[in-house]
Amino acid sequence: MYNLFQNQEIADLAVIHVGAGPRHLLQSSDLTGPEVRTILDLAHALKKRRALGLPIQPVENRTLAMIFEKQSLRTRFTFETAMRELGGHAIYLTKQDIDMGKRESVYDVAKNLSQWSSLIVARLYEQATIEELAAHSEVPVINALTDQEHPCQALADVMTIEECFGKRPVKIAYVGDGNNVANSLAVTAALLGHEVVISSPPGYECKDSVYAYPNVHHVYDPIEAVTGAQVVYTDVWVSMGQEEETELRLQRFAKYQVNDELMQHAAEDCIFLHCLPARRGLEVTEDVIDGPKSKVFEQANNRLHAQKAVMQMLLEGALA
Ligand code: CP
Ligand code: NVA
Repeated sequence: MYNLFQNQEIADLAVIHVGAGPRHLLQSSDLTGPEVRTILDLAHALKKRRALGLPIQPVENRTLAMIFEKQSLRTRFTFETAMRELGGHAIYLTKQDIDMGKRESVYDVAKNLSQWSSLIVARLYEQATIEELAAHSEVPVINALTDQEHPCQALADVMTIEECFGKRPVKIAYVGDGNNVANSLAVTAALLGHEVVISSPPGYECKDSVYAYPNVHHVYDPIEAVTGAQVVYTDVWVSMGQEEETELRLQRFAKYQVNDELMQHAAEDCIFLHCLPARRGLEVTEDVIDGPKSKVFEQANNRLHAQKAVMQMLLEGALA
């Protein structure tokens, strides 16, 4: 029988992590550098096998519960598709369906879903809520975005960077809001040995723990940040749930737009990344996001493979 876990590194991880409860992915720092490496190796392999139409190790009869309190295009589509391609299926539950914390407590939702599902993916407002969900869940919980973190996005981001530059360390400049996407990108990239420079205005820096990594720095000047960078990354200035702050944020971030002028300071072979959705004309200009350096759709494509790898490893006990 074909076994995708022929990779010795993956087999070793399965042995190393013998924990009491299920393993969760709630924030990027939940993974070690070697685990990120193994997830990416598997993600690259899964992507190749899919392109060639080759079989993968199936996870038959598994059900993925997807709790989404916020909107989504990429995350919902890629998790559902990844689970179907792995041989299981997904059930999508919106705030309207379960209204977690109001119609039913987080504890009861966790306990109920643990009876029927093998994995829970959750997109929630507060990081504290996903921590609570995971604390009571008997199956692995994966963060599909909270106010603090977007770990699966970051795995697709570094996968895209590897496709462009190989495994060598590069300089990544993130310009804009030090938000969920920035927090996760910085940690995941740092775990792989990349240099990360965040450039956001005062009061909008990443969370403190991100700067504990020796290869993550902050500078207020976006030109200084992107100088010599192989990767220039930005995200929206107003995240979901921050709509009331729109006017203030548009003022505060005005000098942090990624435009052609700023891109001129980056390395000649640089690429542009954005998690999407994007606001053309605000955080990034049309000529950059739709220009030749942009890899945003390759990045979106990689969500599928990175998340498939994470789910397969959790289901196979390779992340345990
Ligand atoms: N990048 C991302 O997470 O996109 P969605 O919000 O559409 O899922
Ligand atoms: N920072 C954005 C990311 C969307 C994928 C948000 O939280 O709305």
